[in-house]
Amino acid sequence: MDYLQIKGVKSLNGTIEISGAKNASLPLIAMTILAKNSVHIKNLPDVVDIKTLLKLLTNLGASCNFHDDKVVVDTSTITETKATYDIVKTMRASILVLGPILARFGHCEVSLPGGCAIGQRPIDLHLKALEQMGANIKIKSGYIEATAPNGLKGCNINFDKITVTGTANIVMAAALACGNTTITNAAREPEVVQMCEILNANGVKIEGIGTAILTVHGTDGKCIDIKEFSVIPDRIEAGTYLCAGAITHSELTLSNVEPKHLVAVLAKLEEMGSSFTITDDTITIHPSKKIKPVKIVTQEYPAFPTDMQAQFLALATQADGVSIIEERLFENRFMHVSELQRMGADISLNGNIATVSGKNSLSGTDVMATDLRASSALVLAALVADGETDIHRIYHLDRGYDNLEGKLKNVGAKIQRLKE
Ligand code: EPZ
Repeated sequence: MDYLQIKGVKSLNGTIEISGAKNASLPLIAMTILAKNSVHIKNLPDVVDIKTLLKLLTNLGASCNFHDDKVVVDTSTITETKATYDIVKTMRASILVLGPILARFGHCEVSLPGGCAIGQRPIDLHLKALEQMGANIKIKSGYIEATAPNGLKGCNINFDKITVTGTANIVMAAALACGNTTITNAAREPEVVQMCEILNANGVKIEGIGTAILTVHGTDGKCIDIKEFSVIPDRIEAGTYLCAGAITHSELTLSNVEPKHLVAVLAKLEEMGSSFTITDDTITIHPSKKIKPVKIVTQEYPAFPTDMQAQFLALATQADGVSIIEERLFENRFMHVSELQRMGADISLNGNIATVSGKNSLSGTDVMATDLRASSALVLAALVADGETDIHRIYHLDRGYDNLEGKLKNVGAKIQRLKE
């Protein structure tokens, strides 16, 4: 297995190009199941989760070919509708194929995703909504067995909780349903918005895009043609590198970024002392000499994202004062805390609230990644720790960060990938 070896640096300098968003790419790849044509997708990030979902589609009979800077996905050759455990266990977002496969083929089996490091992560809301649309759902030997022999029917869906992949799944199911589906309490994340915008531009009329109430006008079972599109930039990758600039007091520029997706993150970095130069597709961070403490509560978009919680917790260890970070979306998303404490961080946990008493001097040591965003928090801490930090189990990091070590090395980080 690989591990990352990072030596603490004085500062970084230069420009980092942001890749396409992992969490936009996944629903967009699943969305190709609704298309009768070969779909050309540009700006997909080179990360493991994308490869996993493309492999899943290939296992079902689709063809996925890489051409220079795009992937061409043809799902017209799908013959299988069972997403098996071996793939789903490695990536719970495989659940995103359930809605479109059921809508197109009238039956679908998907292995239950099982637990995840950061929380139980149920999919009850996905299943309840599909049942409301006329699907028969059975759980048998660890698989979801869904059938809709007469197709799915549009109806009014109200999500008890805001669910990102749940919203994407139901929008895709509704796209081929008979009649209209109104989804209330829908997720407004940019990743869901892009998928809705692409569907709306390719034959599936959707009203309320970007709001919490979506109305999808189904095509009554007719597959659609989807024109080439490019995946939006990854706002979480971008936020992670902005934290790298803040924690090392470095002026970094991010290119190919969408600033309007980062309003809550930029606001918190400003509260901690940074300022920014922002253009249409670049952000330059001007960090402060001293980092101020912060109060953060994670909530759904457009509020502060849970996927940035771990990175800000690492940053808060370098703040002069006490920061309070509350995690409201997942019940176990503080596993990076114990690893940061081993580096010397002064953090106390009380339920879902972390109290960070900075400023801590961190020392390099062996640490273990536990989940995707926890891994990036350890990278940030290692950048300012005294000495050398070895981060193990970085397969977690490889799921969602495209060439992280290459991008950081290009701006002066002392980082290398080694074999255990
Ligand atoms: C998406 O996960 C993201 N993943 C996650 O990013 C992100 O942390 C999360 O949204 C929240 O923003 C992808 O987009 C692939 P949810 P998702 O359904 O859709 C509860 C990363 O680091 N819930 O919005 O699985 C759930 O338990 C990953 O890139 C139900 O109770 O999250 C959680 O408390 C990690 N029943 C809350 O809703 C359901 O049926 C939000 O979950 C579904 C969700």
